[in-house]
Amino acid sequence: MVSLRKLAFTLLAYTATPALSTPIAHPRDLPTTLTTRFTPFNVGHVDQVGGKKFTNFNNQPIGTGGAAHIYEGVMDGQRVVIKICRQEPNGDQHYLELCRGEITVMKELEGILEGHAPKLLAHDDNGSQVRIVMNRAEGGDLFDATSDGYAKSLDGKSRRKIAKDILGIVTKLHAEGWAYRDLSLENIMFADANKADGTLWLIDPAWAIDGESKFSGGVTEHYLAPELIASREGEKSEPIDQRPADVYAVGIDMLIFVCGINMNFFTSKGYFPLNLSTKDRQQKLQSILGKYYKLVGNKDLLNLLAQMIEPNPANRITAKDALNKVQNLKDYDFNL
Ligand SMILES: Nc1ncnc2c1ncn2[C@@H]1O[C@H](COP(=O)(O)OP(=O)(O)O)[C@@H](O)[C@H]1O
Ligand SMILES: [Mg+2]
Repeated sequence: MVSLRKLAFTLLAYTATPALSTPIAHPRDLPTTLTTRFTPFNVGHVDQVGGKKFTNFNNQPIGTGGAAHIYEGVMDGQRVVIKICRQEPNGDQHYLELCRGEITVMKELEGILEGHAPKLLAHDDNGSQVRIVMNRAEGGDLFDATSDGYAKSLDGKSRRKIAKDILGIVTKLHAEGWAYRDLSLENIMFADANKADGTLWLIDPAWAIDGESKFSGGVTEHYLAPELIASREGEKSEPIDQRPADVYAVGIDMLIFVCGINMNFFTSKGYFPLNLSTKDRQQKLQSILGKYYKLVGNKDLLNLLAQMIEPNPANRITAKDALNKVQNLKDYDFNL
């Protein structure tokens, strides 16, 4: 079940996720009434999708975002989930467009992400709802695994494996010219119920893009690299290579998840203060790392994290080099 904090956080992420063609609303400036837009919507009963039989539909969502809800069911004898997106009550279609885009990207990334993403099993679109059926990740997402204390309980071996797996997938995407652009902890899932030894999946690829692009609002606020903040705020409006920003986001994931950094380091509510300037944000990150320099024996791991959240994208480590460093570290280096 989705925690309230997660729900609030996801809503916030979505409020920062605008119509593809409209300007980005900065979360600081959002009217509080916006939350009313996100009251769960009634999707009715699902018994087929795209002409394929869908059974055991459970109308309690297991995940929920801005205009998308995720439900469980069964298709072709497998446990699946269905992501249902709808148009806004005022007829606005931007979430539907996002979900249509997600279907296209799922198809395009199928080969590259083979084994590291749920398979697209069926989809349909009736003009006011888009529905996407995919395999179900059985182990939950990394956000929940952080909030429920699981991340903290992991040994160095499992932590290192998770870091290696995420960086491995991202290296592969980057080698093919793709930037994922939304590598939040909520979008990385344990495929198997046995999390520690399981495979990781990337979900929610709607924002992934092949080649350079302008900032589009896809990335969840707390993971935004400084160059994206600059580009969002209009200091730079040229399309840029967003692969370094993926590395930054994974750096934040690793700070929180792999290194077991208490989210309260980020704010009292968890995560990162949204109203910080790029400079203050960077200073805060460095000071968090500084604290860990005193606590953690392994400086190489902390140096790697510092290189991943390096503010200048030109000097930031690449996913491939970060992966090499993790491969050269030992399991015990990830012990906390
Ligand atoms: N294939 C899946 N299996 C199990 N849970 C999923 C799956 N896809 C999504 N979820 C859950 O639903 C949440 C929201 O799904 P996501 O596709 O990220 O929607 P949004 O676009 O609203 O962020 C995820 O963070 C995850 O907890
Ligand atoms: Mg998501």
